[in-house]
Amino acid sequence: MKIGIIGGGNVGAALAKRLGAAASFGEVVVLAAPWGVVELALRQAGSLHGKILWDCTNALTADYTGLEVGTTISGGEIVARLAAGARVVKAIPPSAQLLLSDNPTVDGKPVAALLCSDDAAAKAVVTSLVTALPAQAVDFGPLSNARFAEPAMMVIVRLAFGLNRGYRLGLALLSENPATPS
Ligand SMILES: NC(=O)c1ccc[n+]([C@@H]2O[C@H](COP(=O)([O-])OP(=O)(O)OC[C@H]3O[C@@H](n4cnc5c(N)ncnc54)[C@H](OP(=O)(O)O)[C@@H]3O)[C@@H](O)[C@H]2O)c1
Repeated sequence: MKIGIIGGGNVGAALAKRLGAAASFGEVVVLAAPWGVVELALRQAGSLHGKILWDCTNALTADYTGLEVGTTISGGEIVARLAAGARVVKAIPPSAQLLLSDNPTVDGKPVAALLCSDDAAAKAVVTSLVTALPAQAVDFGPLSNARFAEPAMMVIVRLAFGLNRGYRLGLALLSENPATPS
């Protein structure tokens, strides 16, 4: 599968290492740019109509202490508005440092990524990529649920950067009920 990356920083490097992604656009385009440049980066990328767009961004404030959007709208939904016709899947991956390390799991277990999308086929493709990282791919329903997934992932940002817990941490979902496709 051809994977292109918008934003060749830490996350871009981590996904390239784990998935063999190339810096040219393919079937899946990964959005891994800082929130402040997302609009510009998508404009510069040109049409993504029909492409699967894996949105990895945290809609962080510039000082990393908060989110620019949340609970009533999400970064994922804003990305979908900006990238007209793209098949957007919101899934914030594990930390780049964890993925770039020799052991991308925590205590032997993959950490969770919550996948939100209105496109079931696109979500299935990104699920396979997330699983390959490895991460625990959790189907978190429609793209509008990114309103809650994005603040949840902020727990990791605050633990890692605000509370100095380092990068070898992540969320995991414990559930006794099997997932049903959403
Ligand atoms: N770091 C993590 O562990 C982690 C985990 C999950 C999610 N995220 C999210 O993923 C996104 C990327 O994080 P990161 O840590 O990889 O950031 P980063 O290391 O700062 O890299 C961002 C990249 O975006 C590029 N960029 C800047 N303006 C651009 C434009 N207009 N078009 C295309 N690319 C542009 C930068 O290029 P230049 O260097 O040339 O400016 C840089 O290579 C952020 O939204 C972050 O919140 C990060």
